[in-house]
Amino acid sequence: MVAEETDSQLLRFGIIGCGRIAPYHVNALLRVPNVQIVAVADVVEAKARRLAEEIAETAARMAGEVPPVAVYTDYRQLLERTDIDAVSICTPSGLHPQIGIAAACAGKHVLVEKPMSLTLAGADRLIAAARENDVKLGVCFQNRFNPTVVRLRQAKENGRFGRLSHGVASVRWHRSPQYYAGDAWRGTWALDGGVLMNQAIHAIDLLQWMMGPVVRVSAFAATRYRPIEAEDVAIATLQFADGSLGCIEGATTIEPGDLEERLSIFGERGSVVIGGVALNRMETWRFIGMDPAEEAEVQAQTAAAIKNVYGMGHQPLVADFCEAVRTGREPAVDGVEGRKAVELVLAVYRSVEKGEPVILPLQEEVEAIVQAQQALGLSV
Ligand SMILES: NC(=O)c1ccc[n+]([C@@H]2O[C@H](COP(=O)([O-])OP(=O)(O)OC[C@H]3O[C@@H](n4cnc5c(N)ncnc54)[C@H](O)[C@@H]3O)[C@@H](O)[C@H]2O)c1
Repeated sequence: MVAEETDSQLLRFGIIGCGRIAPYHVNALLRVPNVQIVAVADVVEAKARRLAEEIAETAARMAGEVPPVAVYTDYRQLLERTDIDAVSICTPSGLHPQIGIAAACAGKHVLVEKPMSLTLAGADRLIAAARENDVKLGVCFQNRFNPTVVRLRQAKENGRFGRLSHGVASVRWHRSPQYYAGDAWRGTWALDGGVLMNQAIHAIDLLQWMMGPVVRVSAFAATRYRPIEAEDVAIATLQFADGSLGCIEGATTIEPGDLEERLSIFGERGSVVIGGVALNRMETWRFIGMDPAEEAEVQAQTAAAIKNVYGMGHQPLVADFCEAVRTGREPAVDGVEGRKAVELVLAVYRSVEKGEPVILPLQEEVEAIVQAQQALGLSV
């Protein structure tokens, strides 16, 4: 199908969870041709109403003709509507599988925020539900669309690194005690996890995307300053299937503010380092035999000004998801891709818990998280 034909198919979305990240979905969705947001749901009615007003204002500014946006406090009522094709799930992470499975079973395509699940059982059930109901499942690892990251991935696919030596993912950010105290779910094992499962998971996804799969993990984690159950700092060492090595460093303890998110990849023929506050600046681009002017060219072509650490990637990711729904192909980041970083973080948690290296793929669930979810009456 050519772009004009696919764009002409109207897609109607619902948004479930109307907090901090939901407006990024709204702004991205409303920029895709022939997409409407017709309903929102949040357990806090005022939040749902505020987002509905924002949608109406933004859509009116952009399009003129605006369908009414219905407001629900129970997402199941939103899912009962037969005129909704797809949903964006922007709730606390521990709820993603339960809501995603319900959406898939209601025949809706599912775009779910990261992490898609806090357990492998939840991820697997969500992937299976999407397959069984013949709907698309997309996961919001939007940094895969950063111009810097796209360029790095091309270099990897074109074999420019040769054999890999090692790679490092560092997330050095600040999350204040107020940030954690403001929403009760943050930093809990049942609904969030710590810096690795929430903030660093983007960089972890990219490290494994460039170098994976990981076969062995050995890690330490600590809760140093933040008043949370899970970790606010962690260091993990990795061994990849090809024999190369990796390191993950994640922290929300950095003072006095966000410092950087950095990905470094080293191979026998070259080195690439992406930095900036959220992987938006190409710091090093060097390959053996390369014209030295190429580094400056790549730096200029890939530089992106960003407003905050969420970056600019939701727009291309959401556009890709809509195209996948319209054409029947898989989204660039589907459920199987979204699961990989979850498995790696769970392996890190397992290594910390056991005090010993852990082999991947993981065979069993992290019991503590499953039990915590069951105690809350969550079904996954
Ligand atoms: N891709 C990114 O860069 C990025 C950035 C921030 C957050 N996120 C992810 O987005 C998700 C939400 O994060 P946030 O910062 O927006 O959180 P938030 O607390 O600001 O928003 C979550 C919203 O979900 C609502 N909610 C809770 N239970 C619900 C239910 N059963 N049904 C409907 N609504 C419910 C809450 O009332 C709240 O308004 C998390 O999974 C987080 O990891 C992703």
